Amino acid sequence: MAKRRVGILTSGGDCPGLNAAIRGVAYASFNLMDVEFVGINDGYKGLIDGTYHVMKPDDFSGLLTLGGTILGTSRQPYRNMRVIEQDNVDKVAAMKKHYKEMKLDCLITLGGNGTHKTANLLSEEGLNVIGLPKTIDNDIYGTDVTFGFHSAVDIATDVVDRIHTTANSHGRVMVIEVMGNKAGWLTLYAGIGGGADVILLPEIPYDIERVIETVEKRTSKKRKFSIICVAEGAMDLEESVMKKKKRMEKRAAENYASVSYRVADQIQKATGMEARVVVPGHYQRGGSPSAYDRVLATQFGAYAAKLIKDENYGNTVAMIDGKVGCNPLIDIAGKTKFVPADSEIVKTAKVTGICFGDK
Ligand code: F6P
Repeated sequence: MAKRRVGILTSGGDCPGLNAAIRGVAYASFNLMDVEFVGINDGYKGLIDGTYHVMKPDDFSGLLTLGGTILGTSRQPYRNMRVIEQDNVDKVAAMKKHYKEMKLDCLITLGGNGTHKTANLLSEEGLNVIGLPKTIDNDIYGTDVTFGFHSAVDIATDVVDRIHTTANSHGRVMVIEVMGNKAGWLTLYAGIGGGADVILLPEIPYDIERVIETVEKRTSKKRKFSIICVAEGAMDLEESVMKKKKRMEKRAAENYASVSYRVADQIQKATGMEARVVVPGHYQRGGSPSAYDRVLATQFGAYAAKLIKDENYGNTVAMIDGKVGCNPLIDIAGKTKFVPADSEIVKTAKVTGICFGDK
């Protein structure tokens, strides 16, 4: 087998486990074939700009536990990929040119939904592409789980745990805003794992009256405090039937920093209890991956190496019903894995007393 030259990039929001996956791809590839890796800087930006570097085998050591990404990352919106902007650069042509210039046999892209859409575009343009699913949002279609998700669940759950003790001391309502604009997986898991009283998700529009009732019911049972986990993208019933533009206008007019501040304000006004907001933000994406994610990223990386060896391109690695496999990029690009409102996990949360703000 001739020596393979493999380009690798990380794109979109970072997450714990990216470096572990890079290491997994490289270590397994070194054992399976004669291969050289080219690290592309800062995601698709590096592929567009032609900024890359040949990596030595030693560059992959010490990565299992390291947070962030050694390759750097950036957000290059898919919707603009075919748009010629002020810099006059034809981005697709530039990416194809640099792929050729690097003499690549294939390109490995580690990323979330946007990354996969561009990976599919490049695949349709004739490049050999293999995807790896990362995101703390766990919303990539066709995979049971993405790496980065469980690390973020651990971090967000720890936030909920710590907020519990201070909420209890002060007898406050604490509203914790968890990352996740479109999908609520992280909020759902951290909410259940941390024992939240209310969980508000983008997929289940809420009625603030139900939330207030839950808080008041707890007060009537002499529970001094309440914990509300709100996904960044949560919306109420009225907003859920609005077009995005209208919803954004409504939010701008309300003038809250985010949905969590509105929820806190409404609860405080209705119950007279002091309500505070906690936004852990990018803290949820930082630091070392959990053991679960180290293992998952290694499994996914090793499977990608097998795909490279077999020249099985145009796919993205996935966990399918508990087994590592892959899906064609074309089948998953542009789709989002949402929390089904009638899923077992939501039913379990409800039957154990968690309010979702719906009926
Ligand atoms: O996609 C991961 C994610 O952390 C989302 O949960 C969040 O809405 C978004 O990225 C934040 O993006 P940025 O880091 O670009 O602000």
